[in-house]
Amino acid sequence: MHVNTPLKVHYYGSAVVLLGTRDAEGRANVAPMSSAWWLGQSAMLGMGDRSRTAQNMRATGEVTVNLVPSGLADAVDRLADLTAMDPVPETKAAKGYRFEPDKFGAAGLTEQAADLVAAPRVAECPIQLECRITAVHPFGRGCSAFEAEILRSHVDESLLVPGTAYVDPIAWDPMMMKFCDYFGEARNLRDSTLAANWRMPRGRLGARA
Ligand SMILES: Cc1cc2nc3c(=O)[nH]c(=O)nc-3n(C[C@H](O)[C@H](O)[C@H](O)COP(=O)(O)O)c2cc1C
Repeated sequence: MHVNTPLKVHYYGSAVVLLGTRDAEGRANVAPMSSAWWLGQSAMLGMGDRSRTAQNMRATGEVTVNLVPSGLADAVDRLADLTAMDPVPETKAAKGYRFEPDKFGAAGLTEQAADLVAAPRVAECPIQLECRITAVHPFGRGCSAFEAEILRSHVDESLLVPGTAYVDPIAWDPMMMKFCDYFGEARNLRDSTLAANWRMPRGRLGARA
């Protein structure tokens, strides 16, 4: 039986990324987010307007999107109550956020220079995408959707299907957020018709199902 209930949160499960940005003065920032979706060579990134990250993306038109493996959950959680906004917006202060100017340091993460944008990559992330913001759309209450064109992808070799430009879905273990909790080690559920029709190559670890 279904119950008609106004759900408070609709975070059903999505991959966590770390967004690397710089402010107009060149100071680096890194922030976790889970509102990213992908189509072709673009990503749509949903961020609250009162985050330093959203303001940096507007100011510079650049971002790096760093895909988080499940093994980095501790580093992500160290960022969970930090913002580079000073003063901390009231609604965030009420939720326990603190100002932190050095979020890379606070998380124990390492800045890595990108090739085509000034925004920093996150060295610990095995998939790093250098992006240019091509459009910004108002979204929901107090949020914006940033269209990001992927200019260059950096992938740890161990995640590639050998001899191809495809990520091996068995080797890649994304950190997922469901309803604000963290998950990883997703199992392959069954053979995929989509993967078969797209002629997706199989990786080192073999069959999908
Ligand atoms: C796992 C995780 C996922 C998050 N997802 C989002 C998101 O999708 N959009 C968003 O605006 N904030 C998200 N946040 C909150 C931001 O990281 C938070 O607002 C942070 O203070 C932004 O930092 P900044 O102000 O330094 O940019 C998420 C936080 C965590 C820990």
